[in-house]
Amino acid sequence: MDLKIFGAVDDYITGLFEQEDSSLAATEQSIKESNIPRISISPNQGKFLQMLARLCHAKKILEIGTLAGYSTIWLARALPEDGKLITLEYEPLHARVAQKNIDHAGLGSIVEIREGKGIDLLPKLVEEGAGPFDMIFIDADKPPYKEYFDWSLKLSRPGSLIVADNVIREGKVLNDKSPDEMVAGVKRFNAALAANPAVTATIIQTVGAKEHDGMALAIVK
Ligand code: SAH
Ligand code: DHB
Ligand code: MG
Repeated sequence: MDLKIFGAVDDYITGLFEQEDSSLAATEQSIKESNIPRISISPNQGKFLQMLARLCHAKKILEIGTLAGYSTIWLARALPEDGKLITLEYEPLHARVAQKNIDHAGLGSIVEIREGKGIDLLPKLVEEGAGPFDMIFIDADKPPYKEYFDWSLKLSRPGSLIVADNVIREGKVLNDKSPDEMVAGVKRFNAALAANPAVTATIIQTVGAKEHDGMALAIVK
């Protein structure tokens, strides 16, 4: 399949709406300079998530997997001045670079980065009564996606939106025998999501500047 057309159309859309300002461009630059993996969401995906956050009238957002703060900035910009975004990140370098990018974007008072493993930090959020979050974006390591989702449900209320990135992996989820632990992780998550009576859920495929993938969307009943 010729994937070039998807990239070209994605660029066309980005150009039409001028999706990035200097803070987001600086964030992308920081990823290159710090040798951080180039796995942030794309500009159009950022706009899409921001619009979802606005549709939710989100005042509180939780993100699992910060990287350099690119998706964080898109999401935090949907929040009112007294809004709050908590983002969880395991790698100290990523957290450090993200903090700089978030401060540079003027979002330092709205965004709180918590350093550690998602699986350790999520129970703490429940314990301290940090929820309910209006929107949750799951985008960290893939093997524990199902567990991240289960904790996300505990941090939700009816009507909360939970989004999970990278659940299609170029269609590798269709391969029963894929040895890739990331593929196995999202397949396990997708099956559990579809069987979970607590949510209304679907998956949309994503194509464009990034490889063919998908985002799961779930509304808590
Ligand atoms: N949401 C970001 C991309 C996140 S990439 C964006 O679109 O801009 C995935 C991130 O999850 C990486 O920064 C990685 O270090 C982090 N991560 C990996 N394992 C983790 C874990 N166990 N807990 C929390 N974060 C983790
Ligand atoms: C990977 C992780 C992501 O969050 C992503 O959007 C793309 C790739 C990865 O770990 O390979
Ligand atoms: Mg991702």
